[in-house]
Amino acid sequence: MDAQSWDERYSAARNGEGLWSAQPHAALAQIVGPLTAGTALDVATGDGRNAIWLAERGWQVTAVDFSATGLDVARARAASASAPRTGTIDWQLADVTRWDPARAFDLVTMTYLQLAEQATMDIIARASRWLVPGGTLLVIGHDRDNLTRGAGGPQDPAVLYTPDMLRAAADGLHIFAARQLIRDPAMDPEGPRDGGHAAIDTLLHAVND
Ligand SMILES: C[S@@+](CC[C@H](N)C(=O)[O-])C[C@H]1O[C@@H](n2cnc3c(N)ncnc32)[C@H](O)[C@@H]1O
Repeated sequence: MDAQSWDERYSAARNGEGLWSAQPHAALAQIVGPLTAGTALDVATGDGRNAIWLAERGWQVTAVDFSATGLDVARARAASASAPRTGTIDWQLADVTRWDPARAFDLVTMTYLQLAEQATMDIIARASRWLVPGGTLLVIGHDRDNLTRGAGGPQDPAVLYTPDMLRAAADGLHIFAARQLIRDPAMDPEGPRDGGHAAIDTLLHAVND
């Protein structure tokens, strides 16, 4: 999908309510929660749920997406969030396949950026180089096995992840986890459940050490 198509999707999200859940991804919250707040980059931030959650925990966040409408919703959500925010958010409008940040980060997150396989490999390889020494990379997306035994997400296998693919893309980092993750719909308001199947995510958790 191009930026205009995403703008159209986000324009359906009115009153700052957002297209996606207002909650951060549960696995992201679990992994990042214990980390000391520093600088973070949220790649393909969408309407900002992870960026806002990070800023509420003191992170100095750069949040990038190519949908201007998505970022408008994100800004509105951030302005109306009830939790006090000790960190900051720098919203950046850019196509991440052609953008490089001006600095390196303690944390790079990317959730549900479903590009064609080579583009996914490229962005993860580039994101690996956007980490400071000791920095953490966290990538979560829809797994290819959703097509056969999961639920939700794009139905085109070309844009779906596998653990092996994410592991290979992060070559050079120390990989703590490259595995599937069952997204429990009871815990995640976004979690679809089709025909009794829960959604399967792919998780990459790696560190630049
Ligand atoms: C499924 S949404 C996920 C949003 C957010 N990460 C979340 O988990 O709530 C995918 C996002 O990727 C963005 N996106 C897709 N391709 C992009 C690109 N080439 N550059 C920047 N953003 C892109 C879309 O605009 C959309 O906001």
